[in-house]
Formats: sequence, structure tokens, C-alpha cells
Amino acid sequence: MSLVSVEQMLRKAYEEGYAVGQFNINNLEWTKAILLTAEEMRSPVILGVSEGAAKYMCGYKVVAEMVKAMIESLNITVPVALHTDHGSYEGAFKAIEAGFTSIMFDGSHYPIEENIAKTKELVALTKKHGLSIEAEVGAIGGEEDGVIGGGEIADPEDCKRIADLGVTILAAGIGNIHGKYPENWGGLNFPVLQKINEITKGVPLVLHGGTGIPADMIRKAISMGVAKINVNTECQLVFAAATRRYIEEGKDLQGKGFDPRKLLAPGVEAIKNAVREKIQLFGSANKA
Ligand code: 13P
Repeated sequence: MSLVSVEQMLRKAYEEGYAVGQFNINNLEWTKAILLTAEEMRSPVILGVSEGAAKYMCGYKVVAEMVKAMIESLNITVPVALHTDHGSYEGAFKAIEAGFTSIMFDGSHYPIEENIAKTKELVALTKKHGLSIEAEVGAIGGEEDGVIGGGEIADPEDCKRIADLGVTILAAGIGNIHGKYPENWGGLNFPVLQKINEITKGVPLVLHGGTGIPADMIRKAISMGVAKINVNTECQLVFAAATRRYIEEGKDLQGKGFDPRKLLAPGVEAIKNAVREKIQLFGSANKA
């Protein structure tokens, strides 16, 4: 199946009360692990690419070509969207040209009027190409790839103004944070989420910072209009832990254990297990 936008898969998720995972990719191993797991579980999936990760992989074009070729060679039949993560205004044009099927424009650090003006322009651009667009209101806390968010709680009125521009999906800060959650984290702000969902009715919502949010909060958020959940750090943590174990057990020194195909295999398995668990929790298994 060729790449699709997130429009249909997330409309269905929003209406039927489950969420589709966005799993960020960093390289070939990551991409392969996520695609194979989504296929195995018959789940739609969104591959997220931050600007930093795109740069690391030699640009959007390399990423888009790799993903398209991999879908074909692995015979992936579930819907897959290739989406930018916290993309800039300029980055949106580059990603679209390279063949991405969906973009996120993160204008949350601009004053609201500027966020609105830029989002509006990119809504028109994505519509022209039959692609989907995610906008953001209220910066997500923590740091991701050098993008630092203050952990704001979005203003529901601002959310409505952005949703009314015709965005496909909307990310709103509700106390969620990228990376590990601190011990004293206060949890998601459900009264605000409820208000945003009411005021933007019909627009699927996005929950960033999916690593480490307790399962009951995830389920509650899904029941309040969240149809896309982003996961990045968790795959990095389990990959690093499995690789560390392999080396600490001295396996890289046994036979040809130093071969990257062997050295990276435990990390790949760990990513598959993490993605499997999230797909189960989000309820998107067998929804392809
Ligand atoms: P985590 O790294 O906390 O899982 O967040 C991912 C994310 O929100 C990407 O936009």
C-alpha cells in the first residue's frame, strides 16, 4: 500500500474511540521495526520525523524514499502516513516536496496571530496537495531534538480559532511533556482537554509526550477526543537498554557478535515490543 495522509485513519479512530500511534523514526532499523509490528498487528501507523532526525538521515528526501521502498519490499499492507514532527514553516515545503503525506506545523512558539496566519497558509498548501496537517496550540513541555517547550496549558479559545482554519488534527498542551516525566508531574489536565474537545468538536486531537503517561490517563484522553498519540523517547530508552545489556554480557566479543546486524538486533526487538504494547493500549490493533 502506498503512503496515505492521516485524514481517514484518524477520522475513523476519532469516531470509533481509539488512537493511532505516531512512532518517531531515527534510522532504517527503527523504521523496519515499526512497520513490521504495525503489519503484524493489522494497525494503521504514523511515522514521525523531527527536523533533527530528518537532518541526521540526510534530509526528507532520503527518508521518504527509504520509507516508500521499505513499504514495497516488506509488503506492508496497513495504512502508513509519513508525518513531520514539530516542523517549521519552511520545513513544511521541503517535506511536501520530498513526498511526505502529512505535516505538523508547530507554530506554538509564535504569538497566536502569527501562528494563525502561518497555519492558514499551510492548510491551503496541504489541501492543494491532498495531504493532512497537524497544528499546535500551547507548547508541549520538555525538550525534543533541541525544540524546547515550556509545558503550557492551551487556551481552548485559541484552539478553536486554529481548528476553524480547517486543520486535519490539533495538538494542544494539556500538561504533557516530551521525554521522561518528573516524579512530581501533576498529570494531564482533563478539564481543559474536555473543554478543548467540546469547543473544537469534530477535529481529532493529538497527545504528544506519549512516553510514561499511565495507561488509565491514556484511555481517559482517548475517550475525550485524542485520536493520535506520539511516542518517541520510549523506543529510544528500550533500544539503548537492550543494546547496553548485549554489550555488558560480552556478546559483541563472541564470534561475530560485533556485526551491526547482530549488535542492533536486541534493540530492534525491544522497539517491536514497545510498539506492540502501545498499539494494544491505544486500541488500534485490527483497525487497518
Ligand atoms: P516522547 O518522546 O515523550 O514519547 O514524545 C514524543 C512526541 O511527542 C513527539 O512529538
